[in-house]
Amino acid sequence: RTVYVNGEYLPEEEARVSVFDRGFLFADGVYEVTSVLDGKLVDFDGHAKRLERSLGELEMANPVTRDELLEIHRELVTRNAITEGMVYLQITRGAADRDFAFPVDATPTIVLFTQSMPLIEKPTAKTGIKIVSIPDLRWGRRDIKTVQLLYPSMGKMVAKKAGADDAWMVQDDFVTEGTSNNAWIVSGNRIVTRHLGTEILHGITRAAVLRMAREVQMTVEERPFSLAEAKAADEAFVTSASAFVMPVVEIDGQPVGQGTPGPLSRRLREIYIDEMR
Ligand code: PDD
Repeated sequence: RTVYVNGEYLPEEEARVSVFDRGFLFADGVYEVTSVLDGKLVDFDGHAKRLERSLGELEMANPVTRDELLEIHRELVTRNAITEGMVYLQITRGAADRDFAFPVDATPTIVLFTQSMPLIEKPTAKTGIKIVSIPDLRWGRRDIKTVQLLYPSMGKMVAKKAGADDAWMVQDDFVTEGTSNNAWIVSGNRIVTRHLGTEILHGITRAAVLRMAREVQMTVEERPFSLAEAKAADEAFVTSASAFVMPVVEIDGQPVGQGTPGPLSRRLREIYIDEMR
């Protein structure tokens, strides 16, 4: 595989980042994951805008223009012959002597790589996924897409050990989001997903699915929903760049609705894939 590091395209074995990089020492960095369908980037502009916002919130310099970033994404997709999969991008504050206070003039480290993987024909899209709930113990600025992913990573392991696929995080009885996706429920004909704020990541897929649902006259509410409301819902699903729209069929061992992917979840997945490819 060819990867991109600080201006160079290199074989992955030759790519190097400093041991003093603040991404490594402090998780002082941000990232984006953009999916690729039929060799084309899905919603690149949305990801580029959110990246710029994350960098701004952390007072981190942006080493590339949006056009350059697009060019690097496309070049890697071509060089690695990715038809379906994703491009991972990470920008960290760069290398410096270890100090909690960061240097204001550090040179950021930028890394991109690709991963080829099936996104449309995923077995879980047919069966749905099982969720367990865990408390949301992350820091309070979840709207910034930082590389501090240890808590979500531990949450995913909790799910696996319980025989489930993923975890939903809960704060004050309300669901915030999944470990790496936004959480949704369907009650009657109403589709509910948490409103934007600092408690959740502002998902690019979330925004697209909201728009598409409204375009086909579905009723959408952006508001908090409790774990109890989710367990009593007719349907549930998650959205992310790699999951698209993924039905949830079980929460904490209880079936959601009929315990099979619901009609609105399946329809939204179809609409999303149709529009994005
Ligand atoms: N995760 N919430 C969290 C905590 C996330 O990490 C993600 C994305 C999302 C969905 O955002 P989007 O629709 O823009 O992908 C919500 C990516 C895919 C990841 O970490 O792999």
